[in-house]
Amino acid sequence: MGIGTTLARAVDASIDRTVVLGYTRLGSGLRARWWPADPEPGALAGRRVLVTGATSGIGTAAVEGYLRLGAAVHVLGRNEAKVAATVDQARSLVPGGEVVGETCDVGDLAAVRRWAAGFGERCDRLDAVLHNAGTMTGERRETSPQGHELTLAVHVLGPHLMTALLGDALRAAPAPSVVWMSSGGMYGARLHADDADDIEYRRGTYDGVRAYARTKRMQVVLAQEWARCDSTGRALVASMHPGWVATPGVQEHLPRFERLTRPLLRREDDGADTAVWLVATRPESRAPHFWHDRAQRPVTLPGQREPSAEAVTRLVDHVVKATGAGIGL
Ligand SMILES: NC(=O)c1ccc[n+]([C@@H]2O[C@H](COP(=O)([O-])OP(=O)(O)OC[C@H]3O[C@@H](n4cnc5c(N)ncnc54)[C@H](OP(=O)(O)O)[C@@H]3O)[C@@H](O)[C@H]2O)c1
Repeated sequence: MGIGTTLARAVDASIDRTVVLGYTRLGSGLRARWWPADPEPGALAGRRVLVTGATSGIGTAAVEGYLRLGAAVHVLGRNEAKVAATVDQARSLVPGGEVVGETCDVGDLAAVRRWAAGFGERCDRLDAVLHNAGTMTGERRETSPQGHELTLAVHVLGPHLMTALLGDALRAAPAPSVVWMSSGGMYGARLHADDADDIEYRRGTYDGVRAYARTKRMQVVLAQEWARCDSTGRALVASMHPGWVATPGVQEHLPRFERLTRPLLRREDDGADTAVWLVATRPESRAPHFWHDRAQRPVTLPGQREPSAEAVTRLVDHVVKATGAGIGL
């Protein structure tokens, strides 16, 4: 490793720790000077990619990123009209690209089962899935159709079940990728064994921001477990965070934060960059497989400890029980 690379890595890691510098557009602006090369044009030709939460923000930008690299892209959202509009927009931006609309509420486990059965009849191979759908709640009474706490259903249970049900299609791909769009907010939630026993967040006073952070941490842990249980030896399973990105979701759920940070927020394609780059370049990934700005990042802050093996086992057990789906490609 040259001195330039060592220095770049040191600077990169230290701006990550400052949060504001790392997560805003200043971070990606700086890192773009040294981060790994862009994917080759056409890198995803012949590949089929599914993006959830594709009808807004980072998801829509990811759709366009994959399409521009030649992939056939499945645009999944829960609102049929928004899906149709996103598909039309993507087709007009990348004429000749294959774009398929998919309607499914990721937080509704019955809908995920129905949708996955239909997808399996239409497509026998899927090269990548980006679990991007995300939400933030105000109150505990917001639950999924099966009665699960809503962020748990949308961020954890639905994507877990979907990955399991897409297993055959993913295994049929020569180099499958599964990417979970987590959040830097997950650093604020450690996942103690007690939390892992309370995945529905019934204990204590419910707080929507905390529910979000807890389930974003669960995504990171779960992605790591999916990576560990890859029996194909060919899969890239990773989680990532996009930094702070100006999206309709941030405007709706965090209006004060959005007002305060507006000039520094990233563009949506910047937020989607690592998700597109990971699938298109498939870099070597080591546990814990957590990425941001084209580099692996720690999953803990200095002084924090990673979730214990017991907490991980309990989380996985609860997720498997709630979904009826095991882990493993
Ligand atoms: N923006 C940021 O700064 C930031 C930071 C960290 C992490 N993230 C993560 O990045 C991802 C995208 O966020 P964003 O900022 O682009 O948010 P966004 O603009 O609100 O987009 C979220 C997308 O998820 C969809 N969605 C929500 N619930 C769904 C469900 N039950 N089933 C299917 N789709 C559903 C939404 O569909 P509708 O349009 O129908 O609601 C929308 O398409 C999220 O996972 C978020 O947690 C974002």
